[in-house]
Amino acid sequence: MDSVLIVGNWKMNTSLKEGRELAREIDRTLVGIKMRVVLCPPFTHLQAIRAQISYALLGAQDTFWQVEGEYTGEISPAVLKEMGCQYVILGHSERRKHLLESDGMVNKKVKASLNQNLRPILCIGESEEERDRGQTFKVIQEQLDLDLKDIDNINYLIIAYEPIWAIGSGDIPDPSDTNNTARFIRKVIKKKYGGETADNTTILYGGSVTSSNVEGFVSQKNIGGVLVGGASIKAEEFIKIIKASSQS
Ligand code: PGA
Repeated sequence: MDSVLIVGNWKMNTSLKEGRELAREIDRTLVGIKMRVVLCPPFTHLQAIRAQISYALLGAQDTFWQVEGEYTGEISPAVLKEMGCQYVILGHSERRKHLLESDGMVNKKVKASLNQNLRPILCIGESEEERDRGQTFKVIQEQLDLDLKDIDNINYLIIAYEPIWAIGSGDIPDPSDTNNTARFIRKVIKKKYGGETADNTTILYGGSVTSSNVEGFVSQKNIGGVLVGGASIKAEEFIKIIKASSQS
């Protein structure tokens, strides 16, 4: 299993200047810390952020599924790789909701990213309504079936379990429930890809992570790190999250 992974999803936040300062401040504190910290700024900031970091790693918030061609406004996974990205967030619930991104599209993006040796951080998770109807495992099973359809090798894949109701709401699940869900995700992966792949797949928790609740999540057996939104654009708070995770 890899070391703890902390991913900061900046979403559509920070000016270029703010982004540079944020990255520089975070990167400085990573000296001597043995964990992987991935910064996912807006596309427009990638090159500038890359120049600020020596210890943090770079990720994108999305990619298109074709490498080049007539796709106005889209971003190639090959170019993301060229820009220094090692990771790419895919299927975030905000894209599924606001841009109507379907599992079929996410599936193509996972394939295209793996082809470019970009590590996908595949986001899955249930809505509040689905949770209340007791359908969490059913939803997760369906998302994994569709998002990983016809993909034979997921050795570089990371899965982020993000209950939609926990994102940006301050409402978090009990960490032990999250561990159970992560265990279920591992079971699904085991059935599809075998025990070794399942054991080696990093599963993150995401949704209202802060420095005061992060330890509860990263100390769970099946949780290998966190995907942080709002708290990742506040330097001091994000650094506290990193430090709290490195001690657990
Ligand atoms: P949040 O976002 O930490 O602001 O809840 C998490 C995410 O959307 O990945």
